[in-house]
Amino acid sequence: MQTIFSGIQPSGTITLGNYIGAMKQFVELQDEFNCYFCIVDEHAITVPQDRLQLRQNTRSLAALYLASGIDPEKATLFIQSEVPAHAQAGWMLQCIAYIGELERMTQFKDKSAGKEAVSAGLLTYPPLMAADILLYSADLVPVGEDQKQHIELTRDLAERFNKKYNDIFTIPEARIPKVGARIMSLQDPTKKMSKSDANQKGFISMLDTPKQIEKKIKSAVTDSEGIVTYDKENKPGISNLLSIYSILANKSIAELEQAYEGKGYGDFKADVAQVVINAVEPIQTRYNELMESSELDEILDRGAEKANLVASKMVKKMENAMGLGRKRR
Ligand code: AQP
Repeated sequence: MQTIFSGIQPSGTITLGNYIGAMKQFVELQDEFNCYFCIVDEHAITVPQDRLQLRQNTRSLAALYLASGIDPEKATLFIQSEVPAHAQAGWMLQCIAYIGELERMTQFKDKSAGKEAVSAGLLTYPPLMAADILLYSADLVPVGEDQKQHIELTRDLAERFNKKYNDIFTIPEARIPKVGARIMSLQDPTKKMSKSDANQKGFISMLDTPKQIEKKIKSAVTDSEGIVTYDKENKPGISNLLSIYSILANKSIAELEQAYEGKGYGDFKADVAQVVINAVEPIQTRYNELMESSELDEILDRGAEKANLVASKMVKKMENAMGLGRKRR
């Protein structure tokens, strides 16, 4: 059975973009693969976080994974900082990564743009992400399109390590969904939807109320043409809403274009909102139950235990390969 690793940062409440680009895929994959799903809190602290809010977001994200359909009997769900091997392996991989290649990462450029002070962690985020993946010998990494460049760097670092020290790492591949790999902001459809967007109207959070969802979709930026057709270049707003509708309602874009022929954006937006509400409501119900129960912590404890076993073995192999510490019998 092939292995999958993927993570989501608890840097806010996850958005519909995270759900469609990542979590929805995870649920579909857990039957066929040996899956590790991680709440990557060490990645979240590459930008400033409020400690209490971070803890809250971490627990909430765990509940959202489960509420979205992750089955802890099939997949291992855990928190990154509860498995010290991630930070250990991340450091070793930082030492073989070059500053130049890290500075070329689009995410680093985007997140550091215009900032006076940028943490070193923001630059060295990709080697930590490589560690997350390589520790579990993952074959596949299901991610949205924005993470493609980081997976390519992970492959480069793994190949570099294998060649320089010892051939211990599996070279992973990105698995990017054909539709929905990049859900765009509702306020600026040329920018991806992000949970840390300062403009709350730009994203739909998985915990938004039906009223909030209706309002955000109603005020989504579109165009003045009044024709519901998919044209990413010239009609990014409508194309984004069509993608969301198509994925969540399991209807093809062509089918939707036909259904809305001659109708205005008002009807279309109202239906998109309803489709989103139908998708998030059952998840929210289960989420509320989980947040109240002790089941959540038990699942996370078991997940951390299992992940620690696998990851600590790989860290030992890395240390041996690099000559760290004493030789163990
Ligand atoms: N807009 C998106 N469309 C499709 N997929 C997306 N992903 C993120 N945004 C979209 C996918 O979600 C997974 C988790 O991402 P992450 O939390 O690790 O970091 P991110 O990619 O930086 O996501 P955000 O929401 O933009 O977080 P912040 O605002 O904290 O930076 C990944 O698989 C990602 O591809």
